[in-house]
Amino acid sequence: MQKHKIGVIGGGLMGHGIAYLLAAAGHEVGVFEPNAELRASMPRRLNAILELLGDDAALLKRISTHEQMAPALQAAAFVFEAAPEKLPLKQRIFAELESLVAADTILASNSSAIPTTEIGRELKHRERIVGTHFWNPPHLVPLVEVIQNEKTSDAVVGATMALLRDAGKTPVHVRRDVPGFVGNRLQHAMKREAFALVAAGVCDAETIDTVVKEGFGARTAVLGPMEQSDLVGLDLALDIAEVLYEHLDRTAAAPQMLRDKVKAGKLGMKTGEGLRHWRPGEADAVRARLSRFLAEQARARKKTSA
Ligand SMILES: NC(=O)c1ccc[n+]([C@@H]2O[C@H](COP(=O)([O-])OP(=O)(O)OC[C@H]3O[C@@H](n4cnc5c(N)ncnc54)[C@H](O)[C@@H]3O)[C@@H](O)[C@H]2O)c1
Repeated sequence: MQKHKIGVIGGGLMGHGIAYLLAAAGHEVGVFEPNAELRASMPRRLNAILELLGDDAALLKRISTHEQMAPALQAAAFVFEAAPEKLPLKQRIFAELESLVAADTILASNSSAIPTTEIGRELKHRERIVGTHFWNPPHLVPLVEVIQNEKTSDAVVGATMALLRDAGKTPVHVRRDVPGFVGNRLQHAMKREAFALVAAGVCDAETIDTVVKEGFGARTAVLGPMEQSDLVGLDLALDIAEVLYEHLDRTAAAPQMLRDKVKAGKLGMKTGEGLRHWRPGEADAVRARLSRFLAEQARARKKTSA
């Protein structure tokens, strides 16, 4: 594939990983990061990914970090925005981008929840605005949802998916700009039920995690829910749906249990208590376990594709 110049807006948690994976694919990446401390920590953070994945250090030479937006975007064919999740800020950034790049530069937002329809509402060339929802950490999780809004052209979706596929990602085409796209809708449908079960005293939070990890989660990476329905047969899937679905939680609001925990300052690992207690060291062990698992998977994928 042709190697491009690519701009990344925001060098935070997502931006530095996105910059890394694009540079690893051979592109020249300019990152605009307004915060001096975060600019200064970029080399350390990029080196940590390099070490984790065992890549060639030469790829880091293809990443430059900038205090101003314009120099990060010179001759950019794509720009990936990974700035904070605030609509007015993203709208301002996209207006500035439009004044700085060519009319056909593809402008992608990594927003988790804000529709690109809203981000690009006031812009002139709306056909080149697309959602690219990476998952954290973007250099390790394969999926990227490529979200087409009502103005995004098919050609822009195609070019974005091709770029991401070439970079070793697994892009999927989301045909409408719906809240939560596909992945978060699925994830939160499950979480709503999990919160409801715990709130009703059916089981505790740890049991939910055990059921997922040791039960259907053990096969999810190789068998999606649609494949699983076809595997067991849609007649059985229908029988289960007829009996079960009326009992599933349908509360059309955030769970009260979640509101109560947040109000009480029980925010999870960062406060030592959330849905369960976290003793010192336990939260770090969970983070290390996740990072090790994702890195092993990423290295294995690289070996298979080499
Ligand atoms: N963290 C996640 O798990 C995750 C997953 C998927 C998508 N996202 C989305 O990615 C985006 C970035 O999230 P993050 O977690 O990397 O946040 P972050 O806070 O780690 O990074 C945002 C970066 O943008 C910089 N910034 C602030 N103002 C800016 C401006 N005016 N122009 C350019 N950069 C600016 C900040 O200094 C910071 O480095 C958000 O839209 C978020 O919803 C996050």
